[in-house]
Amino acid sequence: MNILVTGGAGYIGSHVVKLLLENSDYDVTVIDNLVTGFKDTVDTLRQIREFQFIKADLSNWNEIKGIFKTKKFDAIIHFAASLIVPESVEKPLKYYLNNTANTANLVNLAVEYGVEKFIFSSTAAVYGETDIQLKMENVKCKMEGIRGEFPTNPINPYGQSKLFSEKIIQDAAKAYGLKYVIFRYFNVAGASPDLMIGQKTKNATHLIKVASECAVGKRDKMYIFGTDYPTPDGTCIRDYIHVMDLADAHIKALDYLDNNKSDIFNVGYGRGASVKEVIDTVKKVSGVDFKVENAPRRVADPAVLISDNSKIQQKMGWIPKYDDLEFICKTAYEWEKKLMENEK
Ligand SMILES: NC(=O)c1ccc[n+]([C@@H]2O[C@H](COP(=O)([O-])OP(=O)(O)OC[C@H]3O[C@@H](n4cnc5c(N)ncnc54)[C@H](O)[C@@H]3O)[C@@H](O)[C@H]2O)c1
Repeated sequence: MNILVTGGAGYIGSHVVKLLLENSDYDVTVIDNLVTGFKDTVDTLRQIREFQFIKADLSNWNEIKGIFKTKKFDAIIHFAASLIVPESVEKPLKYYLNNTANTANLVNLAVEYGVEKFIFSSTAAVYGETDIQLKMENVKCKMEGIRGEFPTNPINPYGQSKLFSEKIIQDAAKAYGLKYVIFRYFNVAGASPDLMIGQKTKNATHLIKVASECAVGKRDKMYIFGTDYPTPDGTCIRDYIHVMDLADAHIKALDYLDNNKSDIFNVGYGRGASVKEVIDTVKKVSGVDFKVENAPRRVADPAVLISDNSKIQQKMGWIPKYDDLEFICKTAYEWEKKLMENEK
């Protein structure tokens, strides 16, 4: 199977590429412009086996078309995107161009060149501030999952740009027979357990990454944004999923589409941890009591965001292997330590 992976030099994409390379059934081609991805991640992955890496920007539509002219792909796994929520509010057009327009072009090429399967990285940000969450602000916090069919209501251009992309993929599928799996990821964290690769994102805002950076001394402190939420300890609750379990879902999706209809799935563990719990866990696995300060709530941060993952479990038979906050934090911390030693 010839697989095209966009954004394969980035955090999540590189973990999927690792799994693809570990299975000899797949021939892998990665396109990445290296804006937030890393060439040395590609070089590390080449220790598993050789694959084609093309440094190209998806906005260069002629160049991307040229790649399709030279190679026939069976599936596209599309990770490449811009994903910083506050930046999307300041620069919405960057998000509509990089995320939505470039996805439309890629879907167009998939149709034109007969690619059968399209797997797309969407996000829980398409749900936005749902009625359930708004109600939870007033009522006692309820650990209710967000359903795949739950109405979407993105509250920032990032979420909206992904929702538009979802619609483009769905419409193309209806009209031209393209098959798709859309994954709405919850909070992705951790590193490959063998520490071959992990998250290298610069200036990351992801909680477990930030806490791990504090534990290794890269940051001198971190903040908890909001301690007065209607949750048991007053801090926000999120559904953290280990990056390798998420990566595994993508491999499952390739086979799933052979015999099943296109669909949208939440990918998370279906239960949450609070910001305080996460910080305590990183402190525990690292043995470092780093400095944490309280800060006001951020705009539009829902109190609780937990997936309902019953659909992916039932329909795709996806069974997570690393559903353990301590393990997630341990791999993130160990990876951060390794990164720091390599940077010395
Ligand atoms: N990290 C999370 O917690 C999370 C949560 C929900 C959804 N997602 C989605 O998962 C996907 C991957 O996210 P990530 O965390 O790995 O981010 P990342 O920034 O590490 O990876 C994105 C990759 O895409 C590349 N890229 C971006 N624009 C490109 C373009 N125009 N042309 C070619 N390459 C381009 C970047 O260089 C990078 O390597 C994104 O689509 C994101 O929206 C991530």
